[in-house]
Formats: sequence, structure tokens, C-alpha cells
Amino acid sequence: MRHLISPMDLSVQETEELLLLAERIMDAPKDFSHLCDGKKLATLFFEPSTRTRLSFEAAMLELGGQVLGFSSADSSSAAKGETVSDTARVVSCYADIIAMRHPIEGAAAAAAAKATVPVINAGDGGHHHPTQTLTDLLTIHRWKGGLRNLTVGLCGDLKYGRTVHSLIKAMCRYEGVRFLLVSPPELRVPDYIREDLTAGSFPFQEVERLEDAMDQVDILYMTRVQRERFASEADYLRLKDSYILDTAKMKLAKEDMIVLHPLPRVNEIAPQVDNDPRARYFEQALCGKYVRMALILKLLGLARPSLPEAAAPQPQIIPSLSCGNPKCITAVQPGLPHLFHPVEGNAHLCRCAYCDHTCGGK
Ligand code: NCD
Repeated sequence: MRHLISPMDLSVQETEELLLLAERIMDAPKDFSHLCDGKKLATLFFEPSTRTRLSFEAAMLELGGQVLGFSSADSSSAAKGETVSDTARVVSCYADIIAMRHPIEGAAAAAAAKATVPVINAGDGGHHHPTQTLTDLLTIHRWKGGLRNLTVGLCGDLKYGRTVHSLIKAMCRYEGVRFLLVSPPELRVPDYIREDLTAGSFPFQEVERLEDAMDQVDILYMTRVQRERFASEADYLRLKDSYILDTAKMKLAKEDMIVLHPLPRVNEIAPQVDNDPRARYFEQALCGKYVRMALILKLLGLARPSLPEAAAPQPQIIPSLSCGNPKCITAVQPGLPHLFHPVEGNAHLCRCAYCDHTCGGK
């Protein structure tokens, strides 16, 4: 049984196969309309969502399956204190596959460890959002003709934006990709992402002004400042309008660049930019439905299997070590096994298997 918790859970080859399957579905959706007859998807959303939840549900319905679930933590037993592990185990009795969104980092990994059906991470706090990444990759694939040799500008809240973290992890695997990370100093990418970029010697540059990146990028990935993840409202208010993409800035960009945004947007893209042919964020939202159809088929074993891949490295239990991230699921669900991965190149450090936080003292 396979889960999708991080974008790295799919190999490059599997990711490419998935994108091709999504394009086949896009071209001939009727050929796929009964493949999930009799199957059920549970959408367990402990955090608000429009696109992700509805595109998952539309995906399952268009495959002939059915959907059940909840769209807020208040309407589930989480309000009574149930752990995500127990919820996942119970829902496995009622559905064939689970898509789960949760505000705590690592919650999807904790759910997957106890579920008896495939679990898809539909966003775990400020950590990962792998199905948004598949959506982004499909959009890039369609409008840029491939995933290699691209300069990707990511702009806005790179600290808390989980879509940014997942997209960087995934795009690092393609040749010739370069990142321009545009953010205020307070909202730079977290250490686990910067460490990966540095360790892999991936070309990246951190800049503060969007104008300094505009003429270089092939893809401009705008993001919302993630109000709900800030400890202080005053900090949010100070940073929320750090970047506004408008028609004047668009004039600085290449003619064939594309603008993406996972949406929802708040202020960071002026509505006039929607009329620019380079704005692709609404097509991106549509790609999300097709790629989720492909993913459901793959995880339910209904898509043609790929060649066997090398097994993913397994985390190690280290009872004496605890994750120091207060936003990690291990901080709110203390019974979870203390699972860690070694950090490449530093024998003294480990990385929490739930939230990726780097911890010392191995
Ligand atoms: C994103 C998310 O939830 O992380 N939205 C989405 O799923 N399309 C981005 C965001 O909320 O800013």
C-alpha cells in the first residue's frame, strides 16, 4: 500500500507517468469515468479549503466513485480530543482512500502510520502539500513543455507556504532548474529546505525585490502570506503586502514566462494581471482535478504500475530524541514513535520523520 505524504514519495519516473496519465484523462475523460465505480474517497479536512477538497471530490466523482468526509475540525471527533491516528484507522473502515488536511506539521504521516488504506496529504500545517505540487508540475509541463532547464521564481511567504516547500523539493530533481527565492528576510524558506538546496549544490539565490527577479524567471510562483501560521497579527499586518504583482511588473518579464499561484490570492496579484496571457493560475486550478484523478487511480492500483523503484529509506526509532518543533504532530500526540532520518553529511544531526525539523544530539 502506498501513501503520498511528501512529493518525494513518488520517484521522478512515477511523477512523470502520473502527469502523462493526467493528460490522457484531460484529453478523454469519458474513458476513465467508471474506473472507480464502487470506491469511496474520504476527505478529512481539519482546515479550510476550496480547491483542494472540491477538486479531490470532483476527481473521485468523475472516476465513478463516491465521496464522504468533513470540512472542518469542529464537525469531527477531533473536537472531542481524538488523535489523527485513531481517526485515520477508523475512517479506513469506511473508505478505500483518504485525503487529509490538518494544521499540524507531520499529521498526515502520523495518520498514514495507522491507516489501512492509502492516505494522501492534502496539506499538513506549514510543511508539505504534495498534490498541489503535482498540480503545479502538470501546469508547468503543459505550458512550458517540460520540467527541465527552468528558472523558477518563488515569491511571498516562503517560510510558511507549504506549496513552496513541496514544489522546491520536487523541482530539485530536474536538470537545469534554478531557483530565485523572493521574500522579506522574515519569510525566507525554512532551514530544512535551504539545507537540501545547499547540500545538493542546487543553484538558488535569495532576493528581496521582485523587480530584481522579473526578467530572469520562466515561472513566477506567487504565494499568499499565510496569516493563520503567524504567532503575531502585527507581524502579519506588517508583511502581508510585501509583494504585489501588477501590470507594470509584468512588463519586465519574459514574453513566454508563466505566472502560477496555488490560490487563494489575497492582494499579491492585481486583478488586471488576470487578463495577461501569461497568467495561468486558473488553468492551474483545473489541472488540479485531473492530476488528482490520476493520483487516485495510481494509489488504488488502477493505473498501470511503473517499473519497480529502489525502496525509500526507512526512518529509525530513537527513543531518547524528541523533535524540537512545537508545531510538530509529536508535540500534540506524544504517544507517537520517535522516528528520525539521518542528515546527509552530518552524523550528529537527525531530521524528524514527521515534520522534517532538524534535531541535534544523535
Ligand atoms: C494552498 C494551501 O492550502 O496551502 N492552497 C491550496 O491548496 N490551493 C495555498 C494557500 O492557502 O495559500
